[in-house]
Amino acid sequence: MPIGLPLALPDPLLSRLSDFLEAQMGLHFPKERWRDLDRGIAAASREAGYAEAEAYIRWLLTAPLTRTQIEGLASHLTVGETYFFREKRSLEILEQQILPELLRTRAQTEKHLRIWSAGCCTGEEPYSIAMLLDQLIPDLEKWNVTILATDINPQFLRKAAKGIYGAWSFRDTPGWIRERYFTKRQDGRFEIQPRIRRRVTFSYLNLAEDAYPSLVNSTNAMDVILCRNVLMYFAQERARKVVDNLHRSLVDGGWLITSPVETSTVLFSAFTAVEFPGAFLYRKMAAAGPRTTAVRYPVPWYGGEAGAPHAPAAPSESGAFSVAQSAFAPEVLHEASGEQATETGDADSREHDERDMRETPRRKARACADEGRLAEASEWCEQAIAADKLNPAHYYLLASIEQERGQGEAAERALGRALYLEPDFALAHFTLGNLCLSGGRQREARRHFGNALTLLRACPADVLLPEADGLSAGRLIEIIASVQASLPRAPKEFAA
Ligand SMILES: C[S@@+](CC[C@H](N)C(=O)[O-])C[C@H]1O[C@@H](n2cnc3c(N)ncnc32)[C@H](O)[C@@H]1O
Repeated sequence: MPIGLPLALPDPLLSRLSDFLEAQMGLHFPKERWRDLDRGIAAASREAGYAEAEAYIRWLLTAPLTRTQIEGLASHLTVGETYFFREKRSLEILEQQILPELLRTRAQTEKHLRIWSAGCCTGEEPYSIAMLLDQLIPDLEKWNVTILATDINPQFLRKAAKGIYGAWSFRDTPGWIRERYFTKRQDGRFEIQPRIRRRVTFSYLNLAEDAYPSLVNSTNAMDVILCRNVLMYFAQERARKVVDNLHRSLVDGGWLITSPVETSTVLFSAFTAVEFPGAFLYRKMAAAGPRTTAVRYPVPWYGGEAGAPHAPAAPSESGAFSVAQSAFAPEVLHEASGEQATETGDADSREHDERDMRETPRRKARACADEGRLAEASEWCEQAIAADKLNPAHYYLLASIEQERGQGEAAERALGRALYLEPDFALAHFTLGNLCLSGGRQREARRHFGNALTLLRACPADVLLPEADGLSAGRLIEIIASVQASLPRAPKEFAA
């Protein structure tokens, strides 16, 4: 820790607080960063209305953090350094190697593409991707492209959603990008064009929580995940868990892009490290099994920055991300198939077969959805419904899949059926609300959110909701509250 004024808070309290923040938010404050922690927590406590930071910390330490507390803390404790087209080399590889290959294969099947900027900060990263896609795909309107951008800091997300930036955000951006995609405002700042802004969906997600991959927050079946300059703020164990979850969020063959400074053979050992001139990128190769040896791609041509491509930093075996052995065990999807049948007599095996007939299509639907094969997923789901017509969960799954395929009407129909069969299906009310919102029907959305809240408030907060991938009732209440808070003021009749 640098020599200077003494810290305002006692060391034991800072130590407890840093362990607690690590567990709840992934944020790692080793002793060398206690000055930042001391300063940040003082600001957060003032904002929360506490005269004494110590009292605020003791209050925080009494129970797991709520979403509101996490958001308040994140606003003061996260690092918001970012700019458009940062770390160009990886983006060039994305543009010139990865995306063209993906687009070629998808053009023949389903024209969909799913990209996630995890730890998107104020939006420069996902908007860079949106601009890049705009140049790369001439018939973009025929594609179902998702660019999901998530962060833990609500202030960053609000700024991102506005899409207004100062010159500093363009410090490494060619001038023509600003000309083409931004409008200069009277105050001298630059506003991103609405058509680019609309392509990115911003939402809150704490990477330290096990909330992904999930169909519920659309963090599944990603083709590309950018998680750059985020893992470096996490402790090793946390970074490993996050990488493990990101691995599961990718389709087979999907790519994880990190920052060059985060390169590590050990942390990303479940991936195949692919060496391009100037960068290492990580690819999920489930079929081939995890490999840590770097693979050399044919040397690509770079039209980007002038000068020879610089050599990538070799993945470090030591340093911030090195761990002795990866605890990661690649996940194998087990089908409920004949393998599990035992020779326990005819009745058992008949019963097993019947259950199998009912359950297998649903599992296949989920497996296909997880891998991004959405048309196939939808077909399996229809089969699940045909075998078990009165099961609302099947309709909910179908709705999630159709939503991901960009088939809003089909998704709404399926949700309608789920709710007909199970009117108390809170998650279905919530999802329907979201669909209405994205269709601009705010009044209807409010009604569905209201229904969901009424149902959720009637259950204990820690009850896990059916079909929600581990989401609890309390958590969904918080999520709905924050969606409602972001809506424009309700007309009088709803402003109760
Ligand atoms: C330095 S910025 C990186 C932004 C961008 N990815 C880039 O490389 O330019 C780090 C971001 O990670 C976010 N972050 C930190 N902890 C997080 C967590 N637990 N979950 C989600 N985002 C987190 C911060 O709020 C911040 O926006």
